[in-house]
Amino acid sequence: MDTAEIRRRFIEHFEAVGHTAVPSRSLLADDPNLLFVNAGMVPFKPYFLGQETPPYDRAVSVQKCVRTPDIEEVGKTTRHGTFFEMCGNFSFGDYFKERAIELAWDLVTKPVADGGWGFEESRLYPSVYQDDPEAVDLWKKITGLPDDRIVRLGKTENYWSMGVPGPGGPCSEILYDRGPEYGADGDFSAEDRYLEFWNLVFMQDELSAVRSKEDFDIAGALPKMNIDTGMGLERVAFLMQGKQNMYEIDVMFPVIERAEQLTGKRYGANPEDDVRFRVVADHVRSSMMLIGDGVTPGNEARGYVLRRLLRRAVRSMRLLGYEDPSLPELMPISRDKMGETYVDLVRDWHRISRVAFGEEQAFRKTLQAGTQIFDLAARDVAKRGATRLSGDEAFALHDTYGFPIDLTLEMASEQGLSVDEEGFRGLMNEQRQRAKDDARGKKGGHADTSVYRGILDAHGPTEWLAYETLETESHPLALLQGGQAVRSLAAGEIGELVLDRTPFYAESGGQAADAGTIAYAGGVLEVVDVQRPVRGLVVHQVRVVEGEFDPSAEMHARVDPQWRTGARQAHSGTHVVHAALRQVLGPSALQSGSYNRPGYLRLDFGWATGLRAEQVRDIETVSNQALRADLPVGWQYMTLTEAKEWGAIALFGETYDDTSVRVVEIGGPWSRELCGGTHVEHASQIGTVVVTSEGSVGSGNRRIEALTGVEGFAHLARERDLVAQLTGMLKVQPDGVVSRVQDMVERLRAAEKELERARQSQLLAGGAGLAAAAVDVAGVAVVAQRLDGAGGGDVRTLALDVRGRLDASRPGAVVIAGVADGKVSVVAAVNDAGRARGVTANDLVRAVGQLVGGKGGGKDDVAQGGGSDVSRVDEALALVATEVARAAGA
Ligand code: ALA
Repeated sequence: MDTAEIRRRFIEHFEAVGHTAVPSRSLLADDPNLLFVNAGMVPFKPYFLGQETPPYDRAVSVQKCVRTPDIEEVGKTTRHGTFFEMCGNFSFGDYFKERAIELAWDLVTKPVADGGWGFEESRLYPSVYQDDPEAVDLWKKITGLPDDRIVRLGKTENYWSMGVPGPGGPCSEILYDRGPEYGADGDFSAEDRYLEFWNLVFMQDELSAVRSKEDFDIAGALPKMNIDTGMGLERVAFLMQGKQNMYEIDVMFPVIERAEQLTGKRYGANPEDDVRFRVVADHVRSSMMLIGDGVTPGNEARGYVLRRLLRRAVRSMRLLGYEDPSLPELMPISRDKMGETYVDLVRDWHRISRVAFGEEQAFRKTLQAGTQIFDLAARDVAKRGATRLSGDEAFALHDTYGFPIDLTLEMASEQGLSVDEEGFRGLMNEQRQRAKDDARGKKGGHADTSVYRGILDAHGPTEWLAYETLETESHPLALLQGGQAVRSLAAGEIGELVLDRTPFYAESGGQAADAGTIAYAGGVLEVVDVQRPVRGLVVHQVRVVEGEFDPSAEMHARVDPQWRTGARQAHSGTHVVHAALRQVLGPSALQSGSYNRPGYLRLDFGWATGLRAEQVRDIETVSNQALRADLPVGWQYMTLTEAKEWGAIALFGETYDDTSVRVVEIGGPWSRELCGGTHVEHASQIGTVVVTSEGSVGSGNRRIEALTGVEGFAHLARERDLVAQLTGMLKVQPDGVVSRVQDMVERLRAAEKELERARQSQLLAGGAGLAAAAVDVAGVAVVAQRLDGAGGGDVRTLALDVRGRLDASRPGAVVIAGVADGKVSVVAAVNDAGRARGVTANDLVRAVGQLVGGKGGGKDDVAQGGGSDVSRVDEALALVATEVARAAGA
């Protein structure tokens, strides 16, 4: 049975008994503790915790997941995939253990002809948490299996949590016995023999801290008993397809087959190569799925994971002996397979392939340069008299040059060197931790949201009026300082205030928080920032401007109307620039991030090359045409599916409610985006769009910045003033400024050249004097002269000039030592007769160079060198006579 059919049957089985089919969410989790969605339940977490009311009691989904802690295990075991699909059924306070077991067992054992998997019962072993006797009884009752077929396991295996604070509970797994060739009878730790393919979690606890799989704190019971299950689609597929592991299933193996053709190696011939083949199949697919969801390669957090996956895939192909670009050959195969289910992969192929292939190209350059960089490090090791590359060096190779550690290890061993791997791994872990902290920090620093959740539980969600009004009477509900509840704030102090209702827009979707005031009898608060640390709760960061703040007072919350006007202009301006960008560059140019505040906007988008000046101008022109046409701006709510059908652009990294999203449109289909921001009513209200810059922000990403409204005009006015100053200074019309400046630059260049010529002739004028002052050393005319302020080029010119002025029929040798910028440049020149006497320029430079702390060399007739010990120049020049005397045999 192919994977698509297994997936289809799973959904159908649960839809038939009242489950709502929910489409997979993006891989980018909307959870500050998670880098990626790593289980089917992640999008439903607020339902389990009782923070939100689910629109259904039962759901079924097939969720895209990425788990990367086991990246090194990929290909070595049967079941470690970085990307996988998790099939799950969920009950939110509806059915519990008994029904969950019934439904799972039914699907697993029902004959294939009747829509099930048809697994033989004799091969199946349910496992339960050791302290859950109820589960044992239920399994026996429902399946009729004897007691000894029910496996009791501890917390590590059979208590499930997210690994971070959140919901959790004891679980039951269904294990499939693959037979004695994969491990000993009854050894349930032999995962290759007893393969777990479905996990039924009885979600009942809320965990406040998770230190390890066995060590965690249960804060209390969840408001309701829930079911969360996870069935590994790839695992079921490989069992049903009679394969040995997940990499050989129908949607993955074609990549291995293509890799076989490219490398000329056979899968199954050599265990080491087989691991590489599987790494290729896994990583090509995972990176494609990640790019599909908007991740771009980078050096931190998500981008770093992607970079690693892409590079490991490329590197594995090289180890298999294929040196040409491999992703253009392999990724389309994966796209054809996965695109049957995830159609966006086909639609976005242009963008996905550009990102992936670009990264491979960059990595190939790194590998080429790598040999040289590595050799330098190795030479350093040799110089130290050591045989071990330090952890620092290996890390620098990795971090600065993107050199993978396995490559470093391999090249080191070729040169008989070892590598301090432990030191390297320590540094890597530190870096990973930094990346994690970074990701957490970026989400607004609300890693611990329990205080806010407490307020939300006590008072319910904030009545949010940002779309309706700019001011309202309201009542304070909570006041915090440094995460603790406080009773009052003194003048000048900063705290966090929660109101029962507010007109303030909290920072989100790239739009900055509103500014304004909250006034009460006896004082005023300035609103410094507004955030939504948990869904539904608006928190104002306030500073007491005057009068001690007493939170029992009634308040008047008021958004600064001018601020809000600017914010609406900037946010609508962002949509306009995005649409203009796509009109000029084509629909594959897609926003990857944005930020706007009154008067200013910036928009990041995936694009491999810099834009030409005309393209930037075109984007600005198209934007302003939309303003001039005064396109209408409107918004409406619809389901996510409807929004997508409508062509609305959903942005990466955002998660949307499936049932109700807000679509903002400008000029109808010209610009449709999912957006919760505040906007103008028609485009001319934006005032103007002035693009101020376009540049790179990391590989494959560009940033465009622009000004809107009054700030846009002010910028143009400043430029006009600048031109006015120039025309005044240059005494030309504005049109003449450029040619006048060009003219001036040319004249300046000519004058500099003239000056240089004059300096040279002055320098050479000294040549005749020096030649005339030559002293006789053993019959050789010798000039040894110091020249302050002269660098290498001048010194050489002068040395050759002086040599030419000496009597050619007599032996002659010239040494000039220039001293400039703390450096000594030495040039020696010897004529033919001098060389016939045994004097060589090379020896002279070496003799002088030694004393001034440097070296040099050249030919017998002219040699050049230098050093940095300025204090010994005179002493060194005195050596010239000695050296000449020695060479001439006096
Ligand atoms: N959430 C459970 C898991 O990931 C089903 O295994």
